[in-house]
Amino acid sequence: MNEGLFIKLEELIGSIYEIEKLNEQGCTSEVRRIITDHRSYLLKSAFKERYRKWLNTEAQVLKKLNTEKLISVPEYFGFILEKNSSHLIMSFEGGLTLTTALNRAPSSTERKALIKSFGEFLHQFHEKKPLEILRNSSDWLEEQLIKAQFYVENGQTEGSLKLLNHLKTNKPLSVIPTMIHGDCTTDNVFVIDGAVKLFIDVAGMTVGDPRYDESLAIREFINNPEDLAAFYDGYKRYRVTEEEFKYFDQGLYEFF
Ligand SMILES: Nc1ncnc2c1ncn2[C@@H]1O[C@H](COP(=O)(O)OP(=O)(O)OP(=O)(O)O)[C@@H](O)[C@H]1O
Ligand SMILES: [Mg+2]
Repeated sequence: MNEGLFIKLEELIGSIYEIEKLNEQGCTSEVRRIITDHRSYLLKSAFKERYRKWLNTEAQVLKKLNTEKLISVPEYFGFILEKNSSHLIMSFEGGLTLTTALNRAPSSTERKALIKSFGEFLHQFHEKKPLEILRNSSDWLEEQLIKAQFYVENGQTEGSLKLLNHLKTNKPLSVIPTMIHGDCTTDNVFVIDGAVKLFIDVAGMTVGDPRYDESLAIREFINNPEDLAAFYDGYKRYRVTEEEFKYFDQGLYEFF
C-alpha cells in the first residue's frame, strides 16, 4: 500500500496495527482486513474505471443506510479517492459468504437450513416498505436496459446486442417494485451464526424488480429440487416462472 493512502486511512480510522489480504477475493475489487487498536475494518479497493464507479455507488448506498439501520449491511466509515484507485472502508463482519458456508456445510440438513435462511432473509427484505433514499428512478428495468445498452456500445460487457434487443421487446409484465439487492447471488450474502443475516456488495441496492433478486438467488439451486424447495420454504412471496427466471438470470444479468 502506498504511503499516501496509508496516511489517509489512519486519518479516518486511527493507528493501523496490521493489514491482511483476504483469502476470498472478489472479481472486481481487492479486499483487505485492517486492524486498529479498536476494531477491524474491511478495505475494498477498485482500480478499473468501471469498477471504481461501482465502488463509489456502493459507498453512497452504505452511507445512506448508515443513518437508517433498517437493512442489515456493513457499517460505512469512509471513501478515499486516489488518482488511479478508489477505496471503501466499512466494518469487517465476522462471517462468511453463503457460497463458502454451503461448500463447508457438513450435512444436507445444514445445507437446507442455510438455504432456507437465505429465502427468509430475502423475503423479509422484499416485504419491507421501500426506503425512498434508495430509489434511483421510477422504472428500474428501463434504467438497467439503458445501462446495458451503454455497456454494449462501449464493449464493456459479455452480453450481445441481439440479446439486449430481445430483452427490450420481451419485458415481463411489471410487478410492484420493492427494495432489491441488485446482485443477490450466494456470493453476496453473509452467513453469521449459521444463518444468512447480512448483505454485502451492495452497489446495486435500490428500488426495483424483486424477481431479479429472486432469480439470482436461486440460480445455484435451480437444478436441485431439494435446494429449491428449501429456498421457497423461506421465501414465500412469489415464485418466478421459468420464463421470468431466464429473462433475469440468463438475460439481464449477462450485461452486469
Ligand atoms: N464487510 C465485510 N466484512 C468481511 N468480509 C467482507 C466484507 N465485505 C466483503 N468481504 C469479503 O470480501 C469478498 C469480496 O467482497 P465483495 O463481494 O464486496 O467484492 P466484489 O469484488 O464486488 O465481488 P464480485 O465482483 O465478485 O461480486 C467477499 O467474498 C467476502 O469474503
Ligand atoms: Mg461480490
